[in-house]
Amino acid sequence: MNNEYFIKADNYISELFDLNDAALSATQQSIEDAGIHDISISPSQGKFLQLMARLCGAKKILELGTFFGYSAIWLARALPPDGKLISVEFDPANAAAAQKNINRSGLDQLVQIRSGSALDILPQLEIDNAGPFDMIFIDADKPAYAEYFRLALRLSRPGTLIIADNVIRHVFDPTTPDDKKNGVLRFNQLVAENDAVSAVIIQTVGCKTPDGMTIAVVN
Ligand SMILES: C[S@@+](CC[C@H](N)C(=O)[O-])C[C@H]1O[C@@H](n2cnc3c(N)ncnc32)[C@H](O)[C@@H]1O
Repeated sequence: MNNEYFIKADNYISELFDLNDAALSATQQSIEDAGIHDISISPSQGKFLQLMARLCGAKKILELGTFFGYSAIWLARALPPDGKLISVEFDPANAAAAQKNINRSGLDQLVQIRSGSALDILPQLEIDNAGPFDMIFIDADKPAYAEYFRLALRLSRPGTLIIADNVIRHVFDPTTPDDKKNGVLRFNQLVAENDAVSAVIIQTVGCKTPDGMTIAVVN
């Protein structure tokens, strides 16, 4: 079995469950038009996150790393009409592109994109009493993952679901820079040893590079 097999299988799943629509493909097109490598989650991962959000009855979701808004669309669609997704993006150009994609998707009432570093915005959210969040998706820069986890815990309650993407690939990829690899290793160790959560990593395969997602529930 090789990547080609996983890509074929993922495409089969996407077609079977009809994991594409005008808003999602316009978002993917906007990334292509910008000439940027698409680092969004895959369609099946988007549906997975959406199902997780529905399972935990999420009304308030926090996302770190908006990019062009692809995962935000999936997550926001799990929210009730009075729900809220706050999505944090460091790069102002990405934040602007994501806002356009969110507006086009008709989700602007549910999604607030906060432009800036998650390391600054999360403490501010705590000061503003914006939490606790029902679900937190960590998908920003890898060197700061452990710090994001600590900050995420402060914005959580018992039962909050914390999911983090890309927690395996950088451990084993020999081309990954040390700061990324060490960031992910620190995060994985912290989560595994932390009594505040019950957690595991699920390996992910499909149309993206084989990787892993942490699934953690706050105790
Ligand atoms: C993997 S992408 C997110 C993909 C997005 N969640 C999706 O699946 O559609 C990571 C994003 O995190 C952003 N980022 C990097 N450092 C950040 C920081 N300190 N705070 C917030 N976002 C950051 C990057 O600019 C990039 O857009």
